[in-house]
Amino acid sequence: MEARFLFLLLPPVLLFLGVTTAQNPGFVSLDCGGQENFNDELGLQWTPDDSFMYGETANISVANETRKQYMTLRHFPADNRKYCYTLNVTTRTRYLVRASFLYGNFDNNNVYPKFDISLGPTHWATIAISDADTIEVQELIFLASDPTISVCLSNATTGKPFLSTLELRQFNGSIYLTQFENQFYLSVSARINFGADSEAPVRYPDDPFDRIWESDSVRKANYLVDVAAGTEKVSTRMPIDVSKGERPPQKVMQTAVVGRNGSLTYRLNLDGFPGFGWAFTYFAEIEDLKPNEVRKFRLVLPGNPDLSKPAVNIEENAQGKYRLYEPGFPNISFPFVLSFRFGRTSDSTLGPLLNAMEINKYVKKIDGSLDGSVIATVVSLYSSADWAQEGGDPCLPVPWSWVLCNSDPQPRIVSIKLSGKNLTGNIPSDLTKLSGLVELWLDGNSLTGPIPDFSGCMGLKIIHLENNQLTGELPPSLVDLPNLRELYVQNNMLSGTVSSALLDKNLVLNYTGNANLHKKHNKVSQNKIIIGSSVGAAVLLIATIGSCILMHKGKKKYPKQDKLGHAVSAQRLVSSLGDAANEAAHCFSVSEIEDATSNFEKKVGSGGFGVVYYGKLKDGKEIAVKVLTSNSFQGKREFSNEVSLLSRIHHRNLVQFLGYCQEEGKSILVYEFMHNGTLKEHLYGPLTRERSISWIKRLEIAEDAAKGIEYLHTGCVPSIIHRDLKTSNILLDRNLRAKVSDFGLSKLAVDGASHVSSIVRGTVGYLDPEYYISQQLTEKSDVYSFGVILLELISGHEAISNESFGANCRNIVQWAKLHIQSGDIQGIVDPSLHGVYDNQTMWKIAEKALMCVQPHGHMRPSMSEVIKEIQDAILIERGAEAVREGSSDDISRHSMHSSQNIASPMDIGASEHCLSIDAAMAQPTAR
Ligand SMILES: *[C@@H]1O[C@H](CO)[C@@H](O)[C@H](O)[C@H]1NC(C)=O
Ligand SMILES: *[C@@H]1O[C@H](CO)[C@@H](O)[C@H](O)[C@H]1NC(C)=O
Repeated sequence: MEARFLFLLLPPVLLFLGVTTAQNPGFVSLDCGGQENFNDELGLQWTPDDSFMYGETANISVANETRKQYMTLRHFPADNRKYCYTLNVTTRTRYLVRASFLYGNFDNNNVYPKFDISLGPTHWATIAISDADTIEVQELIFLASDPTISVCLSNATTGKPFLSTLELRQFNGSIYLTQFENQFYLSVSARINFGADSEAPVRYPDDPFDRIWESDSVRKANYLVDVAAGTEKVSTRMPIDVSKGERPPQKVMQTAVVGRNGSLTYRLNLDGFPGFGWAFTYFAEIEDLKPNEVRKFRLVLPGNPDLSKPAVNIEENAQGKYRLYEPGFPNISFPFVLSFRFGRTSDSTLGPLLNAMEINKYVKKIDGSLDGSVIATVVSLYSSADWAQEGGDPCLPVPWSWVLCNSDPQPRIVSIKLSGKNLTGNIPSDLTKLSGLVELWLDGNSLTGPIPDFSGCMGLKIIHLENNQLTGELPPSLVDLPNLRELYVQNNMLSGTVSSALLDKNLVLNYTGNANLHKKHNKVSQNKIIIGSSVGAAVLLIATIGSCILMHKGKKKYPKQDKLGHAVSAQRLVSSLGDAANEAAHCFSVSEIEDATSNFEKKVGSGGFGVVYYGKLKDGKEIAVKVLTSNSFQGKREFSNEVSLLSRIHHRNLVQFLGYCQEEGKSILVYEFMHNGTLKEHLYGPLTRERSISWIKRLEIAEDAAKGIEYLHTGCVPSIIHRDLKTSNILLDRNLRAKVSDFGLSKLAVDGASHVSSIVRGTVGYLDPEYYISQQLTEKSDVYSFGVILLELISGHEAISNESFGANCRNIVQWAKLHIQSGDIQGIVDPSLHGVYDNQTMWKIAEKALMCVQPHGHMRPSMSEVIKEIQDAILIERGAEAVREGSSDDISRHSMHSSQNIASPMDIGASEHCLSIDAAMAQPTAR
């Protein structure tokens, strides 16, 4: 009874709030990068996103665009993170969320960004800007199930992710209710106002929900073409009864097209399709029909005869003139290119009439991490900390910066790294509910109180709680964690005794620096390593080899630089240097660099350019510091011009250039540090004996590197030819994702080694023979080098070797070609793969590699074609992997999968036919 009474009271209260606080209740209009509140000419109230803590703002100016909200934007680094806007919504309410993107060359790079946008964990769309002056719009209709939503940008493959506006529009009716609404969003593909009197869309305030009804007079590619002859616009001033709710607004219904010759036909491309969608048409009879006139028509969809049966008679169906009739399909399969026709029936005197239509695509909702709500509770305890602001799902589409997740469909958090984040109070007890947790790093904070019971996290391997102010005893339950290998609790205020059970456990334990915590006496422990503060990292490494901690402790490797060779074709760059000075790269001071590298203490590589040192900036970012040997730059300005060019090349698969320093006669370049060193070391260095990289991982590395190269070729203006691609220039990060390094250094190379500046540069074994002979450099020279890298990934052999390829052969290309062409792929596959690969994918890559090393550039594929092939192979390999995991007879499965290329039993004597490297260069057309 009481509840019912309340329910009756509620609506007027809400209405009251709505009227006094905002003119469009349920509307949010964020002007990204904006500075102030303003009302636009439609009466929409825009607010700036100036409280948003990530990214940078930019102002742009674009011809024919004067709306203030489009003059600004916010952009984000092209890194592995996601950047999320979180908006408040009312649960169990339907909304439209709209994101728009106007590039306007905000970064003066003229590189059209490409990145992903997601709603919470669900991939919403890939934004691929194709024109600097055109606004891209994405809209999604959803039923709110939580009090907030997050719109996240991530996964930039070219340029930087950015956002111009973010809008939220609340519905209050149910036209978009579907039976799939708990599992699917509706992504808006087309919303068309037919017979519109101008190109301007109809939206707020005509449409109280501010949907944008696009005019059918807008002319753009593949939008409403193939229009039937005899199509005429009609309109009326008469009011149209659109009832209430979310029917199209009256203004949209007052115009229509009529097929005077008996047909209306249209063709348009549907964004997001093929797939299942929601499609509705809206009709209102707005012509005066004479008594003897009848308008009846049918929808004809090619390939869908069943749908064509019901006939429409608007006046009859709507029960009168100027009234709405809205037939549609709540779930229909549509192709990407949709052609449709409305045709007059044989008993009709008038042609068909159409006022409006809407087509939305179903987008499957992705369930987020299973730990989402638990970690949200933890985060809410630190709501003002920056790490707590990342927003969205902790794991999807990419994890928060301080979290690692497993790859389950509904991922679990496996690692939490909150070292040195100034955490206070007790260790949040909710952390103990993360049942998938393997690593917990809370060291170097100001945490107080007891260590909680972690028996809810049975997978815990590594616990770092050192350097806090924790009190109380070590909980006995620590002994019961079966996988616990490392426990660090030193420098706290713990008390009591360390139990003999814990001492007997096979683990690295450090409990020094706790005045009142003591080992039980008379107990000598055998199989445990206790680390006092003086025991070095060597012990630690030995103790943990084989576990994933290697990623954290990190082998601080950095590639050796080879002699010369590098990068961009110098003359092609000159044109872009004009305005470089005013967009200068970050300038580090020498003292900053000295601090970061502890006075150039740790050398991690060296080569023709100089020496590379490991460093760590004040903010904790690890860096690689390249001190150039040459000091021949004419002056600061020339050097900074060069480096500002580098700073404009951004791609997630290119090693990030962070800045430079030129002082005290030193020229220094600063890059992000890549924890796993070079691909070379992993393929045939000493590391391979410890663990070799799997075939699927190699494919992923190939994909990453290929994307970086493709960006240099196609994403940069002018395009950049790397010139010195090789496995030692492909670096691997913590997660073994690959990035290409040493691009863009040509001018530096010329100056730094002027005695070779005019001749061919590159590395023997990777060098395009055609370029060697003609000295004409093209992108296809990089493709050749990449082909060699693919062969190395397949075989685990170096490009040039005196031993690996038989008596007279030193060159991997000649060797691999003979084997592949005679069908003997097994003869070249790296034995350390132990046969764990799908034959089909191995063949795919081998054949593509051979295409890449064709003697003539014009016969080689482009990098995009190579990427496509690698991606296909990855898909197939993942499928095969799933099968392998599901069954143990993987060896026999391999042979069954083998493709058209049946291995030849012939044992090819490679040496007889193999040309030496020098001979191959002299005769590039051989074979
Ligand atoms: C639509 O229909 C198809 C085929 O009948 C079905 O598989 C699908 O689940 C339905 N719903 C959506 C949202 O795709
Ligand atoms: C740590 O937190 C305290 C209290 O919240 C604050 O006053 C202090 O500035 C913080 N220090 C840092 C380095 O963030």
